[in-house]
Amino acid sequence: MSNTIKKIAVLTSGGDAPGMNAAIRSVVRTCAYHGIDCVGIYRGYQGMIEGDFKEMGPRTVNNIINKGGTILKSARSKDFQTSEGRKLAYKHLTEAGISALIVIGGDGSFTGAQVFSKEFNFPVMGIPGTIDNDIFGTSHTLGYDTALNTVIECIDKIRDTASSHNRLFFIEVMGRDAGHIALNAGIGSGAEEILIPEEDLGLDRLLESLQKSKASGKSSSIVVVAEGDKMGKNVFELKDYIEEHLPEYDIRVSVLGHMQRGGAPSCFDRVLASRLGVKAVESILEGKSNFMVGISKDEVTLTPLEQAIKGHYPIDMELLRVSDIMST
Ligand code: F6P
Repeated sequence: MSNTIKKIAVLTSGGDAPGMNAAIRSVVRTCAYHGIDCVGIYRGYQGMIEGDFKEMGPRTVNNIINKGGTILKSARSKDFQTSEGRKLAYKHLTEAGISALIVIGGDGSFTGAQVFSKEFNFPVMGIPGTIDNDIFGTSHTLGYDTALNTVIECIDKIRDTASSHNRLFFIEVMGRDAGHIALNAGIGSGAEEILIPEEDLGLDRLLESLQKSKASGKSSSIVVVAEGDKMGKNVFELKDYIEEHLPEYDIRVSVLGHMQRGGAPSCFDRVLASRLGVKAVESILEGKSNFMVGISKDEVTLTPLEQAIKGHYPIDMELLRVSDIMST
């Protein structure tokens, strides 16, 4: 392990995700294990610009493994997009004796880390934290598994009322431009149809499918709609369209929203966060920089930040076929 790094900073940036606290805990304790100082930066890059730092030891991260959100707070910083902002951030880091940075966040946060690292030749490492699961180089981002569990819990509840009233529900879920949450939670909750940005189902096929479903004897239905779906209509417009064409349906809409980002992380996310935090710190101590730690086939991996930013973790199209078969 390298002896040139004596102090590592960690921050959370972008949309918070369950498991970020478990990752902070892992970074802090791995630093302590290797005799390295660790500093937490509040409010992401904005806190870096303002020098909003706090020394963290193994006891400062007690009792956070089970907590949603992020104790370091998160922000999307416009100032960090300017060269003046980044210069100020660098000044604060060096004044505090910090010689490497771990960024827990999504691809926007990694882009900032990469620019900063190139500008100042500063070692950085990324840990993927977003419920969207849209980052290349990891099969799972922190928070995704928890969000899936939250979504199916909500849909199970909606199903109770949908079936009591023989209703059709359009349920919008998060995921930004990716359909991972919609597709997996849709299958997991037994949805009739799943609309994702990666597949253009088309309004005609949706109508056909709902007609078939009614004809097959189903009295209630759930359609899961990814927020980034490219059908050309939002959930409320879809409701109006279906009501107009299939008046036999009594339709309601439910937009799950930010509840999908909250709550205690699942066991999977806690274990993943612990593994990724260890790998991030140890990779820095081995002299590596500009990588994202991730998981692939249950192995912890390193992907160059540049690739992680440019690519997207692909949708498993076989899951769409599974969903079709399940809605028979
Ligand atoms: O990237 C995480 C995410 O929750 C997306 O699923 C969603 O589109 C977006 O953030 C919402 O952002 P905000 O919290 O700024 O409204």
